[in-house]
Amino acid sequence: MFAALYDPLLWLGEKAGMGARRQNLLGDARGRTVELGSGTGLNLGYYPDGLDELILTEPEAAMRVRLARRLGRHRRPARVLDASAERLPLEDATVDTVVSTLVLCTVDDPDPVLREIERVLRPGGRLLFLEHVRSRSPRLAHWQDRLAEPWRRFAEGCHCNRDTLELIRASGLEIGDVQEATWRGMVPIVRPLITGVATKGGH
Ligand SMILES: C[S@@+](CC[C@H](N)C(=O)[O-])C[C@H]1O[C@@H](n2cnc3c(N)ncnc32)[C@H](O)[C@@H]1O
Repeated sequence: MFAALYDPLLWLGEKAGMGARRQNLLGDARGRTVELGSGTGLNLGYYPDGLDELILTEPEAAMRVRLARRLGRHRRPARVLDASAERLPLEDATVDTVVSTLVLCTVDDPDPVLREIERVLRPGGRLLFLEHVRSRSPRLAHWQDRLAEPWRRFAEGCHCNRDTLELIRASGLEIGDVQEATWRGMVPIVRPLITGVATKGGH
């Protein structure tokens, strides 16, 4: 049900700036690139040409059907894997870029996912993220807390009040420039956005 509603629910937001934000972020993808929770494939049109490999992971069958359909329309070489972000079927230190757009809000617990990202990235490899997060406005954060449970049930596990930037920082990845933005065309509790790059050290 959520998979079927996903594109219509996001349509206005994509037109009102989210599509451009995806494009900006994904222009930095390089080398072997792995996307977490690809959903219906809204990022597909924005990857640069010339990646060594593009792997799209998605654990929900209903999303994967739509992802495969969109991939067929884009004619972009990519592999779709049935995999959760907590357990990627990839060797250690073999990935140049991991992409997470609107996924760290959805996973049950971001800590094991961040550990898995760190595991698969090569030293110097990068996480590109675009996530909606807990508001810095106490008033909006209060409403995010109050509505967290009904929103989670409506949006298939999405946590609208998660402080994802702090979690990325605590994971040990080195956070570069982070931009804050507003997800226009969406309900206020998911409007605060962060987008940026976090790098695995040690190279
Ligand atoms: C809000 S959607 C985002 C989809 C897409 N990344 C986008 O930017 O439109 C969240 C996606 O994460 C997927 N997901 C949920 N739990 C996951 C997990 N543990 N690991 C990876 N993906 C997960 C969902 O099936 C869904 O496709």
